[in-house]
Amino acid sequence: MTWLITGGAGYIGSHVAKELVGAAERVVVLDDLSTGDPARLPDGVPLERGTVLDLPFVTAVMRRHEITGVLHIAAKKQVGESVERPLHYYRENVEGLRTVLEASHATGVERFLFSSSASVYGMPDVELVTERTPRLPMSPYGETKLAGEWLVDAAGRAYGMATAALRYFNVAGAATPELGDPGAFNLIPMVFERIEAGQAPLVFGDDYPTPDGTCVRDYIHVSDVASAHLAAARRLVVDPSARLTLNIGRGEGVSVAEVIEMIRKVTGRLDITPEMVARRPGDPARVVASAELIGDELGWSARYDLEEMVASAWEGWRHRH
Ligand code: WQD
Repeated sequence: MTWLITGGAGYIGSHVAKELVGAAERVVVLDDLSTGDPARLPDGVPLERGTVLDLPFVTAVMRRHEITGVLHIAAKKQVGESVERPLHYYRENVEGLRTVLEASHATGVERFLFSSSASVYGMPDVELVTERTPRLPMSPYGETKLAGEWLVDAAGRAYGMATAALRYFNVAGAATPELGDPGAFNLIPMVFERIEAGQAPLVFGDDYPTPDGTCVRDYIHVSDVASAHLAAARRLVVDPSARLTLNIGRGEGVSVAEVIEMIRKVTGRLDITPEMVARRPGDPARVVASAELIGDELGWSARYDLEEMVASAWEGWRHRH
């Protein structure tokens, strides 16, 4: 197999590239470097710079490298921005995916993995979100991920590709903190940014119906996300008719207040006192995965806990700043 990783120079994509290379898989990265950084790529991995919207380019890359499997990770991922710029998000995430699928079909790719998101569930009203929990996305971003799942499923069936849609929960941490890569625009890096600027971290709402009033999420280490990709990719290789849709989470709920407490512990900054502010519109009170299906299907489970996520993210942050 030779795998093409779109978005492979990004935060999650580069961890997936590292995991596959470590498992002796052949990997090629396609990335437009809009948010990606070639410094993240493992040694020896070819980088094809360009956009997933360019069908002749994507097709030529697949032909040139004799790609047999695709991990389509390239996407725009900011929920708030997707509300402001829905056309941009549909173009990048849905048209981009459609183009990569078309190139895959044209060049005979038979294995296709797609990065989906817990945001397809919107505001789930359950303790643990299973893959069958209703998909009711609350943002254009979540809609593009759900539409993407439909597209991958339909194309997989029509053109005989094995497919997997991997629904990431809240990805955090870093495998290679020397790269200075704690992730971006999410709770943990946003707290780091505030404390480094000498400001109190913000908590968006403490009146939710949760044990401490702050929102509960399922944080998962980016290296665990990467190992789940490897396990899913290997399944598609041995099962050419596979049609997987899987949550990637730990099955453990952690509140915003608990994350900030862990940041106090890991950074040793016991003076940190969060500032309670108004709710951020559209935030669900609780989103925690059931990780049962991925355990049953792939024998995969997460290895890292919250402390390891926060510690590696903090180390990455300090390397960058
Ligand atoms: C986590 C919690 C905030 C910043 C989104 C997408 C999801 C996935 C991950 C990509 C929330 C609170 C945050 C701050 C805070 N993305 N918060 N103060 O919104 O759970 O998930 O990103 O695929 O699909 O929906 O992640 O990290 O933004 O927020 O109190 O300064 O932290 O309100 O409860 P979210 P997040």
